[in-house]
Amino acid sequence: MSHSFFHFLLISVFLYTNCMALRHYTFTVKEVPYTKLCSTKKILTVNGQFPGPILKAYKGDTIYVNVRNRASENITMHWHGVEQPRNPWSDGPEYITQCPIRPGSDFTYKVIFSIEDTTVWWHAHSSWTRATVHGLIFIYPRLPKALPFPKSDHEVPLVLGEWWKQDVREVVEEFIRSGAAPNESDALTINGHPGFLYPCSKSDTYELAVEKGKTYRIRMVNAAMNIILFFAIAKHNVTVVSADGHYTKPFSAAYITISPGQTLDVLLHADQNPKRTYYMAARAYQSNLDIGFNNSTTIAVLRYISSNNDTKTSTSSSSSKRYPKLPPYNDTSAAFKFFSSIRSLYSGLVPARITRKIFTTVSINLLPCPNNSCEGPNGSRLASSMSNISFVTPSHVDILKAYYYHIRGVYGTRFPDFPPLVFNYTAEDQPLFLLTPRLATEVKMLEYGESVEMVIQGTSLVVNGLDHPMHLHGFSFYVVGAGLGNFNESEDPSTYNLDDPPYRNTATVPRSGWITIRFVANNPGVWFMHCHFDRHQTWGMNVVLIVKNGRGIDQQILPPPPGLPPCY
Ligand code: C2O
Ligand code: CU
Repeated sequence: MSHSFFHFLLISVFLYTNCMALRHYTFTVKEVPYTKLCSTKKILTVNGQFPGPILKAYKGDTIYVNVRNRASENITMHWHGVEQPRNPWSDGPEYITQCPIRPGSDFTYKVIFSIEDTTVWWHAHSSWTRATVHGLIFIYPRLPKALPFPKSDHEVPLVLGEWWKQDVREVVEEFIRSGAAPNESDALTINGHPGFLYPCSKSDTYELAVEKGKTYRIRMVNAAMNIILFFAIAKHNVTVVSADGHYTKPFSAAYITISPGQTLDVLLHADQNPKRTYYMAARAYQSNLDIGFNNSTTIAVLRYISSNNDTKTSTSSSSSKRYPKLPPYNDTSAAFKFFSSIRSLYSGLVPARITRKIFTTVSINLLPCPNNSCEGPNGSRLASSMSNISFVTPSHVDILKAYYYHIRGVYGTRFPDFPPLVFNYTAEDQPLFLLTPRLATEVKMLEYGESVEMVIQGTSLVVNGLDHPMHLHGFSFYVVGAGLGNFNESEDPSTYNLDDPPYRNTATVPRSGWITIRFVANNPGVWFMHCHFDRHQTWGMNVVLIVKNGRGIDQQILPPPPGLPPCY
């Protein structure tokens, strides 16, 4: 290597580490009025923006985000997909790793990036505040050459969301009080815009202007509260290059499936007739059509511009060609065909020797109400559970503090390796006694460095099954297998992909089916695991993993940061 080139390299690395390694952001949480579908309400925002601001970081950076709560309700912030090695203090879930930031108070989060390569996101993690408090995080390689796919000409943020005309706080209060399912949202949104198919939304349509011949890297997240989405662009296949912050083997897709919590990076090649305008659309994937769901479609416009003048091109072509084709709502095989097309870029990194096997069920449940006075099925109250334990969130002190300072009586350590009741999990008719979960705050203790395999089995209790996008904080995991029906210990493991399975932080358990995930418990801390449908999370489809400290000094939880919000 020539001397001068080596010098150049040194200087570039120096510049990168110095200008980019320390970054400070201020997030002021405040209520501002927004109008959608001809109806105005105040929403919770960061810095007045919806969707919220984009954070940018280089791989391995540490950034500081000062969250100033200037709203009238509690808030916490979560950095979804950021593993935060040894740093659960800044992870965010309310009463799991911190007490909330009260109105008028501040807390500075230390966000430690490590192995994340591409796109993750941030969102509030207190009640349902994340409905409007969320945004993308763009991660860049330290050396641009490190990108394993051709550089795109432009980057496009694309946030899929869900909008209620009603105050989201009311939606939550109502369904918690009544025991029924929450009100459906009124619209789906693309970058905050419902699009022209909704009543009173003609001009509220997101438009992406592209130039023929250029490539656009769309960094997208499903920030919706309760809906898995299909998304497609008319006449344009996309090339998927990353999922949940990690590179994938590039593959071409006519549509994508994205669950709440998941992120994708896809390349859009603007290679179609530039005289035409094309639409992009998203709508629900909902395997169980007996459950009420928002079946509307959000539309955005893809418009070609000519580089010399920005005159709008003709839109005279037949309109049917401009709408993308999306799979039917309940097309489970289409949804999972997409999920299983995702392959890690790298092979051979899956933990092979498993030291801890966990089998857990995820269920919808019913709790009895006095005189059948609730508004769930048969006067009962809807609930949900993992391994038949409906998670009760502590309300005075968080689990991390209780663990770190040995405060007793906040949680139990008896989350089982195997559910207490074995039954035909996916049978159509279930005996009534199976419907009632146990209410408890049980965590799963793990030794540092254990190789964990977890089978997550969906059940048909109450609603005859539906999909569950399960999310784990503090880790990415390999999704080595997925299938329909009851997991079969003697046959299904032979179908595992142990070579290049998807490496994700949120994976969807199919309706009345199962998934198997693997990870090494090498991140000491207190880590929330839950369904990323917020209604299921509110009902208790959650567990907490506590990974104990290892022996090494770098295998232990960092000391608590200054200024942690007090608990009382
Ligand atoms: Cu995206 Cu516990 O969260
Ligand atoms: Cu769920």
